[in-house]
Amino acid sequence: MTKLATLPLEDELGDVLEKAMRRAGLSDELVAERAGVPLGKILDAIDYRPDLGCDELRRIAGVLQLNEVGLCALGSGQYPVPEIGALPFCVWPLRMPHGIGVANAYLVGECGSSRAILFDTGAGIEALEAVWPPGIKQLDAVFLTHVEAEHAGGLCEIVERFHVEAAFIPLGAKAPCGRGLGEGKTHTCGPLEVTAFTTPGHSAAHNCYLVRAPAANGGGALLISGDLIFAGSAGCAHFSQEQLHTQLRRMLATVPLGTVIAPGHGPLTTAENELKYNPFVV
Ligand SMILES: [Fe+2]
Repeated sequence: MTKLATLPLEDELGDVLEKAMRRAGLSDELVAERAGVPLGKILDAIDYRPDLGCDELRRIAGVLQLNEVGLCALGSGQYPVPEIGALPFCVWPLRMPHGIGVANAYLVGECGSSRAILFDTGAGIEALEAVWPPGIKQLDAVFLTHVEAEHAGGLCEIVERFHVEAAFIPLGAKAPCGRGLGEGKTHTCGPLEVTAFTTPGHSAAHNCYLVRAPAANGGGALLISGDLIFAGSAGCAHFSQEQLHTQLRRMLATVPLGTVIAPGHGPLTTAENELKYNPFVV
């Protein structure tokens, strides 16, 4: 079952078009010409004043190799996000204002327990404290998706405050107090198993993490996707367009369809939803 996003999506139509034009190496004039759409309408969309109909968006999707169903949904403010089903553990999204946006970190733990593991740290310990669930008293591990100010602030302070034994960062990233975790490496914290995937593109050193509870009968998995996959979009390819989109396709093809995706920005989604609708998945 899907519904409209209750939290704002990270990217609007204009952001997706800009990212897609950068990926394709095409100017707005060329896209307008090839798609047979007035240039002014493309510029308005980029300026957050979209007035593009689905027919026009379908032609633009063809030129930019985007998912036309998802692009049309985004353009009409109808991008669907799925109902998130139960997982065999509890997830606390920690949404922290940063600059003009919001960055997400996540606590994951056994429901009812005061222990958890933390994925990303937001801008730092003060921002985390403002959204911290009072029931969580102990951190068993911290995992960073990438080392950027809005996702990795205050790692050492957090390690110290909670006496965290294990703080992991992507291999090749530089952060004091963290040690590198590479592709396929798994760390077990009580009933939770966390597997790292090396997913460069947004930055050279970027990890996604798949969280499972192997002993639970059935139950889904959670993918912490950092700035690789967003509901309805993808992260900015600061390091490599090609690698980002290769990794995005790889991760969506690797995890089970029902996997819940927890992105660094915007609402939760699922692998199934993004395979169907994400504009960057064709
Ligand atoms: Fe980010």
